[in-house]
Amino acid sequence: MTQAGRDSEGDPAEQQRGGSGGSPSESRLTGGVVFLSGANRGLGRVLAEMLLANDVARLYAAARNPDALDEVVALDPDRVVPVALDTTDHDAVDAAAALAGDTTVLINNAGAAAFAPGLTAPPDDVAREMATNFGGTYAMVRAFAPVIEGNGGGAIVNVLSMAGLAAIPPLTGYSASKAAAHSMTQAVRAELRPRGVSVHGVYPAGIGTEMLAHPSIPHSSPQEVAAGILAGVEAGDEDIFPCALSSAEAEVWRVDPKGLERQHTSH
Ligand SMILES: NC(=O)c1ccc[n+]([C@@H]2O[C@H](COP(=O)([O-])OP(=O)(O)OC[C@H]3O[C@@H](n4cnc5c(N)ncnc54)[C@H](OP(=O)(O)O)[C@@H]3O)[C@@H](O)[C@H]2O)c1
Repeated sequence: MTQAGRDSEGDPAEQQRGGSGGSPSESRLTGGVVFLSGANRGLGRVLAEMLLANDVARLYAAARNPDALDEVVALDPDRVVPVALDTTDHDAVDAAAALAGDTTVLINNAGAAAFAPGLTAPPDDVAREMATNFGGTYAMVRAFAPVIEGNGGGAIVNVLSMAGLAAIPPLTGYSASKAAAHSMTQAVRAELRPRGVSVHGVYPAGIGTEMLAHPSIPHSSPQEVAAGILAGVEAGDEDIFPCALSSAEAEVWRVDPKGLERQHTSH
């Protein structure tokens, strides 16, 4: 289901494997300690369920409103630790990293989107998209990278979007924020690989969650996407296209980026 990028020279599977987490036969998730942002609903909620089913040792489930985590905690009160976290509050991000000092896998899932045409999008909405999707993700990476390294290595998983590879016009600010986060993901990957932390970018197409208020955009189930993400992390794929829709778009993007740009203008 996941597809490694194919631009590197040599064995593509080997090139795309992360720098740590052991050999491909060793699980990055089972027995690991995972910190997950935006765990209360949408894709994050499904990821929380699947991580527990994958026998993680502990799950730090973070949300802006910790009361919204009651159902997630109830899944397994012994393993789920609720954390109040707005990822745009960088002091709170640092506090979360200090609290969750045994983390080995960080999943940056929290994200925000506002549908509006590029020239008329409210500036506050665009600022919120940049602060959440780029700024928050970057702050989380910076705070947790030394924690994961100190625990012997592990993985950072940034949930990005196909919109970050080719813009979707009604999602101008969102697309730009995901493109910025995609670039940051590539940059920190090079820095963290030799330090034992693999960095994975996840590129879903539409997902059937509250975020996708625009019904004309084709979408996959959060269950398919969550399963694809975890499979991609376990396989060590640096670029994870977690569902059939995103795999198909990735095939276009690899050979014809302009073609994907045109395809996205139909949304
Ligand atoms: N849905 C799609 O079509 C789609 C496609 C590609 C990629 N993605 C990405 O997938 C990820 C999950 O999105 P989703 O579809 O599950 O959307 P969703 O249902 O709208 O859920 C978004 C989650 O992010 C949280 N969040 C938003 N801003 C936050 C902040 N500043 N600090 C902490 N948490 C924050 C929300 O918390 P609250 O409940 O407090 O608002 C919620 O838990 C996002 O990164 C999104 O960009 C989604």
